[in-house]
Amino acid sequence: MSAYRALFDAHVERWSAELPPGDLYAPMAYLLALPAKRVRPVLTLMACDLFGGDPRTALDQALAIELFHNFTLMHDDIMDAAVLRRGRPTVHAHWNVNTAILSGDAMLVMAYSVLGADPIVLEVFNKHALEVCAGQQLDMEFERRTDVSLGEYKEMIRLKTAVLLAAALRIGAIKAGAGRADQERIAAFGEGVGLAFQLRDDLLDAFGETAMTGKEQGGDLRNGKKTWLLIRGLEVERERGSTTLHDQLARDPSERDVAVMITALRDLGVEQEAQQEVQRLAGTALDELEHIDPIGERSAALRALAVSLVERTA
Ligand code: IPE
Ligand code: IPE
Ligand code: MG
Ligand code: MG
Ligand code: MG
Repeated sequence: MSAYRALFDAHVERWSAELPPGDLYAPMAYLLALPAKRVRPVLTLMACDLFGGDPRTALDQALAIELFHNFTLMHDDIMDAAVLRRGRPTVHAHWNVNTAILSGDAMLVMAYSVLGADPIVLEVFNKHALEVCAGQQLDMEFERRTDVSLGEYKEMIRLKTAVLLAAALRIGAIKAGAGRADQERIAAFGEGVGLAFQLRDDLLDAFGETAMTGKEQGGDLRNGKKTWLLIRGLEVERERGSTTLHDQLARDPSERDVAVMITALRDLGVEQEAQQEVQRLAGTALDELEHIDPIGERSAALRALAVSLVERTA
């Protein structure tokens, strides 16, 4: 485990241990105690370190970002009708939907209270938090459409996922006193890595194993999520004159045969194509790091993290 991760984990544990009793707070402690990658807070600490700051000074901001992320997951699992998260029942499955809504709301408020009052940090946080909501809205709207383009998909995942990784890095850089140009570059790196991260997440949703991902396999396909895989799969299907995916999507979600859809995606060759796209996006992101000034050795951790996310299985 990296030193950043150890530092952050101890901080979350201290925070969780002080939560008041009762069902408003229990879901927060529950979700935070389950195994998670903690990518975003680690990015905040890494960026702070990269630009010469003491990562410990960014711990609260890293915590705020992880709390915000967990709040989005609590509500995302309701929206996606997901029953498994991090290998355990989701909050709404374990408690109930109302508890998940309210505990999520409270978690968002608590994220703000630990974030602090620096207006520059607040502005970055607010901008991106709102973009995440906009991305989630598009994600839901796309479920009912069959003509979503790869460009629209990319913008949707940029909003729902990539901008938060960018914000995590930018806030770490701000805490270290980095200049505007460096902030822009580290944020561009984060956005690129975030795109690759979500595309990999979509791949794992279809082809990953529940034992590794901790999520139900094929949930996106059941919901008709317009992921890169499904959009490209429909395209290739049209070229070949087959209709398996198309026919499955015409059914009610509860009637879809997810296993048939997964096999169809594999046969259409889009699994490999999507992974190549993950690599391409990560490569573009890594290029951004080249332009950052103090770089050298301290960027090695960021690079290694970006590379590991491309191959991740959980
Ligand atoms: C899940 O995020 C939601 C996405 C944006 C893909 P993570 O894959 O970072 O989930 P945890 O926090 O490690 O469980
Ligand atoms: C979630 O995307 C993005 C946010 C929570 C903002 P997904 O719906 O793909 O995330 P998972 O797969 O449930 O973790
Ligand atoms: Mg989801
Ligand atoms: Mg979702
Ligand atoms: Mg997903």
